[in-house]
Amino acid sequence: MRLSRICGKTFCNVLLLAIFMVIFAMVQKVILQSAFTEKTARDISGERVYVRGHISVWTGGRNESVTEHKVVRAWDVTDAHCSANTSLAALPWFAEVGERTQQFLLYRHCRYYPMIFNHPEKCEGDVYLLLVIKSMIPQHRRREAIRKTWGEQKKVNGKKVRLVFLVGAATLGEEHVHHQKLLEYEDRLFGDILQWDFKDTFYNLTLKEVNFLKWFSTYCPNVPFVFKGDDDIFVNVENIVEFLEKNGSNPDLIVGTLLYTSPPVREKNNRYFVPAEMFNETFYPPYLSGGGYLMAGPLTVRLHLASERVDLLPIDDAFVGMCLRVLHVSPKEHSGIKPWGIHEPGKKNELSKNPCFYRDLLMVHRFTPGELLLMWKIMKSDVICSRVKHFG
Ligand SMILES: *[C@@H]1O[C@H](CO)[C@@H](O)[C@H](O)[C@H]1NC(C)=O
Ligand SMILES: *[C@@H]1O[C@H](CO)[C@@H](O)[C@H](O)[C@H]1NC(C)=O
Ligand SMILES: *[C@@H]1O[C@H](CO)[C@@H](O)[C@H](O)[C@H]1NC(C)=O
Ligand SMILES: *[C@@H]1O[C@H](CO)[C@@H](O)[C@H](O)[C@H]1NC(C)=O
Ligand SMILES: *[C@@H]1O[C@H](CO)[C@@H](O)[C@H](O)[C@H]1NC(C)=O
Repeated sequence: MRLSRICGKTFCNVLLLAIFMVIFAMVQKVILQSAFTEKTARDISGERVYVRGHISVWTGGRNESVTEHKVVRAWDVTDAHCSANTSLAALPWFAEVGERTQQFLLYRHCRYYPMIFNHPEKCEGDVYLLLVIKSMIPQHRRREAIRKTWGEQKKVNGKKVRLVFLVGAATLGEEHVHHQKLLEYEDRLFGDILQWDFKDTFYNLTLKEVNFLKWFSTYCPNVPFVFKGDDDIFVNVENIVEFLEKNGSNPDLIVGTLLYTSPPVREKNNRYFVPAEMFNETFYPPYLSGGGYLMAGPLTVRLHLASERVDLLPIDDAFVGMCLRVLHVSPKEHSGIKPWGIHEPGKKNELSKNPCFYRDLLMVHRFTPGELLLMWKIMKSDVICSRVKHFG
């Protein structure tokens, strides 16, 4: 053999053996690795999961390529059909509660709906704060104003911030196709719409809540903080991050505008009407106004579990209060979260004309898109404010 003339016989054998062993080890590693990821995928019971080997994400001008194996779960609801509970019609009080409440009660047991637009990638990477805004298809100007103002920030004080909008399906048959097409275009441009296939009505807001809680538990279990609010608010993301850096270690953190002894409305024609057959206590448990509140991510995951033990209530924020009660967690007041800003009812709010007022707050409710853009422009200009905080 030619080779034995170049190197000694034993040396060659050892060399070939070594090469063979290295190749064998590499092959084995590949086989083991794929077997492992398949096993991990199957082990997550009940959930449909898939494994992606290579994900590249575009973040702040840098292409961070993540090559390790990741298990990504998927939304497991594919059937939009859920039939009405017709046995309710036999109950004597059912005829008395009015059509809207009847409609709610008939579908009260239907919780989860298929997703039309989903963005599982939203929580990839080390997202610090997820901004979650309840919106409706026709409110595109509000979403646009948010994206151009406080929602444009992708990194605040070195922390990654992400924005998503929660949207249901269009309600009017004729406009359905038209609206849906516009929303599809908007989502293709911005990639920030989470849409579920249920009718987007006031009484269905709680569906937005429970579907979001499930979505967050599925895709974002490691995101430390969530801010959830309406689409007509001003949010000071810097102040939120600053507050969380100081006060974020509490695993039960949930702060906003506290409603302590809020009784259910019993007048049938009121928007907030809830009959005693639906909720028979004198007061709702303490809860935070749904206009905007801030909470810890792990608490959000626990809220999902608790929500499955509570019957749906048409008042979405009071429903969250009932879930918090199940968890024995008390929501807390934060003086930097204001339910009324410019349009404080009944009086002229002098403070609200001063942009410095907003510099020191976490959130203010009730802005038109135009007001939001104007406020943002003033705030970004070189207005000099004293650093006196309006909250502790
Ligand atoms: C990011 O890197 C990956 C892997 O190197 C590459 O396939 C992809 O095209 C890159 N994306 C951008 C936007 O540069
Ligand atoms: C339908 O309504 C009846 C009467 O309230 C109730 O007992 C039953 O559990 C409901 N069914 C479902 C599927 O929720
Ligand atoms: C909520 O959405 C479901 C699914 O689209 C619909 O069947 C139901 O009528 C809606 N409920 C109300 C009260 O609008
Ligand atoms: C923030 O933390 C301080 C000290 O830990 C505490 O006194 C204060 O009540 C907290 N603020 C809120 C709004 O939780
Ligand atoms: C109130 O409702 C709960 C559960 O829905 C029920 O167990 C309880 O008996 C009701 N109380 C009254 C006074 O009707």
